[in-house]
Amino acid sequence: ARAVAGDLATSVFSPVRPNKRDSVTVAEGFTHSVVMRWGDRVLPGAPVFDAYKQTAAAASMQFGYNCDYVGILPLGRDKALLIVNHEYTDENLMFPADTYTPAEIKAIAMVNHGMSVVTIKRGLVPGDWQQVTNLRNAPHNRRLHIGTPFAIVGPAAGDDRLKTVADPTGRAALGTLNNCAGGTTPWGTVLSGEENFNQYFDKSGDLDARYTAQYARYGITGVGKGWSEVDPRFDLTTDPHEPHRFGWIVEVDPTDPKSTPRKQTMLGRFKHEGANIVIARSGHAVAYMGDDERGDYIYRFVSADKFDPAKTVKARRHNLTLLTKGTLSVAKFVGDGAGDGSYDGTGSWIPLCTDTTSYVEGMSVADVLIFTRLAADKMGPTKMDRPEDVEPNPVNGKVYAALTNNSNRGKPELPVDEANPIASSMVRASLGAPLTAASGNRNGYVLEWTPAGGEHTAAMFTWDLLLVCGDPAAAETYFGGVDKSTVSPISCPDNVSFDSEGQLWISTDGNVLGSNDGIFRVPVSGPLRGQVRQFVTMPRGAEACGPLITDRNRSLFFAVQHPGEIDGATFEKQASTWPHTDDFPRPSVCVAYKRR
Ligand code: FEO
Ligand code: CA
Ligand code: CA
Ligand code: CA
Repeated sequence: ARAVAGDLATSVFSPVRPNKRDSVTVAEGFTHSVVMRWGDRVLPGAPVFDAYKQTAAAASMQFGYNCDYVGILPLGRDKALLIVNHEYTDENLMFPADTYTPAEIKAIAMVNHGMSVVTIKRGLVPGDWQQVTNLRNAPHNRRLHIGTPFAIVGPAAGDDRLKTVADPTGRAALGTLNNCAGGTTPWGTVLSGEENFNQYFDKSGDLDARYTAQYARYGITGVGKGWSEVDPRFDLTTDPHEPHRFGWIVEVDPTDPKSTPRKQTMLGRFKHEGANIVIARSGHAVAYMGDDERGDYIYRFVSADKFDPAKTVKARRHNLTLLTKGTLSVAKFVGDGAGDGSYDGTGSWIPLCTDTTSYVEGMSVADVLIFTRLAADKMGPTKMDRPEDVEPNPVNGKVYAALTNNSNRGKPELPVDEANPIASSMVRASLGAPLTAASGNRNGYVLEWTPAGGEHTAAMFTWDLLLVCGDPAAAETYFGGVDKSTVSPISCPDNVSFDSEGQLWISTDGNVLGSNDGIFRVPVSGPLRGQVRQFVTMPRGAEACGPLITDRNRSLFFAVQHPGEIDGATFEKQASTWPHTDDFPRPSVCVAYKRR
């Protein structure tokens, strides 16, 4: 493909310097537009957003809060569908004091979770995109929220432990929660990870003793958000199975607004960060997934059937079944020793189950899928430093995982290993070890692996750490071997994606180096391999999410999540007013492009 003006992969730019501004700052020569803000109208019946007149009914037709994953599916030449996750809510920043009852706040917050599908069109400047605001011309628009019916599909569907008071079938769940990262599939659907779903369940009495170990492993305590006052299914005491219906990868078909979104049980249940699909040379669909918890695992799914690339209705119908049958495995990383001066080694995929056979002693297929963490625990995988987004690079065939940080690494139960080599500074301090300002795995890694023979279905792989993040002046940091005086500081990698040249784009969550979060471009091959350069910085208190390069590398879509989320902030006393259209912050999706 011929290079186009404003190509974000080939453009040379001066890195944005770390800062604490309350703005989105893109590299010189580029600019950005705000595409969708919290509260913007998605469906024709939606009222114009008014922070003082919020209702659950209005929110069910407006853009939700705390946008995270950002996906794009083209809709002809000049339009596209923007698919966005709404991970969670910041009630203290959303609601003016003395305006709503506690029950109203809960009901509105519940509906602000979920996903949005929004029709967008090209702006006047190449690379710019904006909402189609005449919603009569946007028939694909959709809000998925806590009241939206989902089908539970795959081998665990219908299991007794998925049945609830409202759903004796165990196949029909309402809503999706804490949707973090995701991916688009080669067959045109969107996958979205239900991450910290454990926090939404209350208890009115005891917890069901049958699930003591299972609840504990998933962090389900019964200390929730009081949602059971609005909807009794969030009371564990009376509906112990409701949490088993969250923690899945959901698959949505945005091209068919009437389709029922599905929870794919074959991909296991854990704190799913997201899922990204690659079609292996063999034709099988392979999904890579992270379980975002300190000391949890990286997973892989390989479909039993092969992807059909034909552009026919029959092929699409077949491809929509690919995630329901296959093999779920968990990763083990073995180091080859520090003597070679690099963090690297070999690894293997340990199968947990197929759709018909369990490989875990004492556990059925449904046991493995519903309580995947407990199944994996028995098989000796590597405990990782919070696996976030895991994504295959379509250009070089390697896979990249963001390991964001781990305050527990180095404790006796979580010793360092070559793939997780740096002990937490807190742990080191308690051991009396010397500390530098940037020491400890507060800043995270980017892990890279190469499937054996370049085949994503292979049982083995080789791996290395591409980045040991942090202040480049700190001795422990590593940037792919490039001269560290040429890189931007980076902390807490979270989401990853690729431009058409195969360069990595990374967004961060929780920068502990003293400046705001942002988005970075990183070559992964050639003499500049590892040269992290900051392209965007976020407003105050915001996390950067969902970087996505599209439109022939001319557009960088990203989400500005939780602007103003700073301790002590309230609606009346905000730490951010970004995007500066109101006197309170509005989480939003932006697009960056070449300034004309
Ligand atoms: Fe929602 Fe793991 O970030
Ligand atoms: Ca080594
Ligand atoms: Ca994330
Ligand atoms: Ca990603």
